Amino acid sequence: MASDTDASIDRIKAAPDLQALEAERVSALGKQGAITQLLKTLGAMTPEQRQAEGPRIHALREAVTDAIAARKAALEGAALEQRLATEKLDLTLPVPPPLEGSVHPVSQVMDELAEIFADLGFAVATGPEIEDDWRNFTALNIPETHPARAMHDTFYFPDQDAGGQRMLLRTHTSPVQIRTMQSQQPPIYIIAPGRTYRSDSDATHTPMFHQVEGLVIDRGIHLGHLKWTLETFLKAYFERDDIVLRMRPSYFPFTEPSAEVDVGYTMVKGRRVLGGNEGWMELLGSGMVHPKVIAACGLDPEEWQGFAFGCGIDRLAMLKYGMDDLRAFFDGDLRWLKHYGFSALDVPTLSGGVGA
Ligand code: PHE
Repeated sequence: MASDTDASIDRIKAAPDLQALEAERVSALGKQGAITQLLKTLGAMTPEQRQAEGPRIHALREAVTDAIAARKAALEGAALEQRLATEKLDLTLPVPPPLEGSVHPVSQVMDELAEIFADLGFAVATGPEIEDDWRNFTALNIPETHPARAMHDTFYFPDQDAGGQRMLLRTHTSPVQIRTMQSQQPPIYIIAPGRTYRSDSDATHTPMFHQVEGLVIDRGIHLGHLKWTLETFLKAYFERDDIVLRMRPSYFPFTEPSAEVDVGYTMVKGRRVLGGNEGWMELLGSGMVHPKVIAACGLDPEEWQGFAFGCGIDRLAMLKYGMDDLRAFFDGDLRWLKHYGFSALDVPTLSGGVGA
């Protein structure tokens, strides 16, 4: 019997695959298997016989079981090795030729903004697109009954979050002001580019659009800092020294005073070209951060002041790169993307010209 088992173990060791191994297992340990049959003979033995045979038969069973486990592990290991050797995942991108994809103008402009503001000492901050009512409105000094809420054409979610707050798609990037002041100690110098949403759609409005928020919180900040920052930013962005700003008194609940900023343009062959001051176009909203907003974030408005601004990125891109239909930005038309897209290798740098 022991030699039968030796032969069985040899076959197990030589089993070419898992299927053959399973057949060997059944023939040794299955219901009709050789070892199973041997175990059954124990019942008919005298106690003395059983004392001698029992350990021997159990040892045979253990030897077969171990051999099967060892062969199984070896076969599975080999199968894995084989897969690892043959299956390859190429994580690299082909660099031209031909480089198929292109960088969307919105991404390009976001990179340009990050580059320009990094040079002025601003970090990039982010926040979620699904925002709570408090950060999108209340903390920004827009209480429940404020008419500004109606102006925002907000997409609300039907459910409330765990804290019982109404959730919404952020209608502007201004809630990132709140998040940043809640999580960082001043001085704060950030921009926050990202997606925003309003229930609005025509040639100049899409339900999803992009904004960039700017926020400075420090000691002794005044309107002069705001104006200088915007001027420096717009000159660098449009790559022209003759960019002229006009600040018009305006109203936002979260800034006081508030100013809408227009940029001067000149008519060149019937087209508006930024620079000079033949006419004005509205470009962004701004102001000194309202003390109530600073206090809502747990900071002392006696100690800390600041300015904020908000600007449409899509519009910035259109003005600089000459697209005239906003909706085409989000159609995913390959011809448009090829025409207006940027090379992935064209990283904007101030020294190379940010719009290179
Ligand atoms: N959040 C404003 C909007 O979406 C813009 C803004 C930002 C105005 C910061 C002032 C200060 O219209």
